[in-house]
Amino acid sequence: MELLTSRQALQEWRRGVGEDLAFVPTMGALHAGHLSLVEAAQQLPGRTIASIFVNPTQFGPQEDFARYPRTLEQDRELLQDAGCDALFVPSVADIYAGSGQTRVQVEPLGSDLCGQFRPTHFQGVATVVTVLLNLVRPDRLYLGQKDYQQLVVLRRLVEDLALPVQVIGVPTVRESDGLALSSRNRYLSEAERLQACAVSQALLAAQQARRSGERQVAALQAVAHAVLQRYGVEKIDYIAVRDAETLLELPEGVVGAEDPVMLLAVRVGVTRLIDNLLLAL
Ligand code: PAF
Repeated sequence: MELLTSRQALQEWRRGVGEDLAFVPTMGALHAGHLSLVEAAQQLPGRTIASIFVNPTQFGPQEDFARYPRTLEQDRELLQDAGCDALFVPSVADIYAGSGQTRVQVEPLGSDLCGQFRPTHFQGVATVVTVLLNLVRPDRLYLGQKDYQQLVVLRRLVEDLALPVQVIGVPTVRESDGLALSSRNRYLSEAERLQACAVSQALLAAQQARRSGERQVAALQAVAHAVLQRYGVEKIDYIAVRDAETLLELPEGVVGAEDPVMLLAVRVGVTRLIDNLLLAL
């Protein structure tokens, strides 16, 4: 696996690679969820490049940028073993080489849901992914469904700006008790880890209710809320049921013909956890 630690090294490598380049952008601290993106990328012919960049502009001032886990050596080995062809590890100066005046916004989607609690987050994500796409010039972009709003924001970005890349969402990888894999799970204490599985249990309960015929958004939210309460999860940023493609609210708060997705964001201790589940029948 080629390790590319500068813009120049990436550009040189890119010149020798033809079409069918798949790209897996990450912030490192890799786990099986990230590796499933690499695996999905390898299902099609061509090469795969991953990137590791802990992007400062997507963290708010009170967030965990400084303590975000940085495990480069381990990540590199995991990607190498997964058969990834190249790893791009840029510096901040490689990514934000310009004047810093340009920001990419996907609005109002980026201010909704997680955006209400992390006001500049999606602007940071959209900006860094635009820069990465311009540098890497991949044909396919692989993103996890775990960060569902991010996936929808980036799909919209690619479509609205006519970027020549196909966006592929890859299903969430879960622990055996249902907890969605996340680099931030390592912040959880033992007791918090037990509480954290409330999130997937809440989503499954709502899915079950939907399958039993419940169509009222408020009732589905109440089912999820009750599970969170039962586990003692009290800090709930939101429980939402939205159109799975657009993330718009459902007309009159009733599930109709659209595919609904439930999205949750909670805090367990100081750790913010997000998860989602399609509630299709
Ligand atoms: O999902 C992530 O790890 C990040 O938000 C991304 C897409 C790599 C942008 O920094």
